[in-house]
Amino acid sequence: MKKLIIINGPNLNLLGKRETNIYGNMTFTEFFDQTIKKFPNAKLEHFQSNIEGELIDKIQDVGFSYDGIILNAAAYTHTSVGIGDAVKAITTPVVEVHISNTFSREEFRHQSYISPNAKGVILGFGLQSYELAIQSFLDD
Ligand code: DQA
Repeated sequence: MKKLIIINGPNLNLLGKRETNIYGNMTFTEFFDQTIKKFPNAKLEHFQSNIEGELIDKIQDVGFSYDGIILNAAAYTHTSVGIGDAVKAITTPVVEVHISNTFSREEFRHQSYISPNAKGVILGFGLQSYELAIQSFLDD
């Protein structure tokens, strides 16, 4: 069974109440519970932090043993050389995910420090972006 982890960055703990016109009404806990049931053939974990270093620690912890990382680094996507370097340093493939279509938003969201070293990027499909990323690892 593939061991996969969703790593969520800053403010994604507020899903369901944060800018619901962009990110929707569902909390991540609700979504994750439903996703675990949808993918009984995967061993799925979830980690969220608002702290850049904690995200880097987690990427390093899982990045040499898990089968896949689904990473939504949120705002750090656009700013963090450190998270970009962590993705480059590990051997576990990373699929970068965004709920919104970052290219249809402000210019500063068009830059990603994750993409150059990601296996792929999925964005703009709402929470379904996470499911598409999980499926991509299971099809592999
Ligand atoms: C996001 C897009 C980022 O630009 C933003 O800072 C987020 C969420 C998304 O999932 O659409 O916090 O990563």
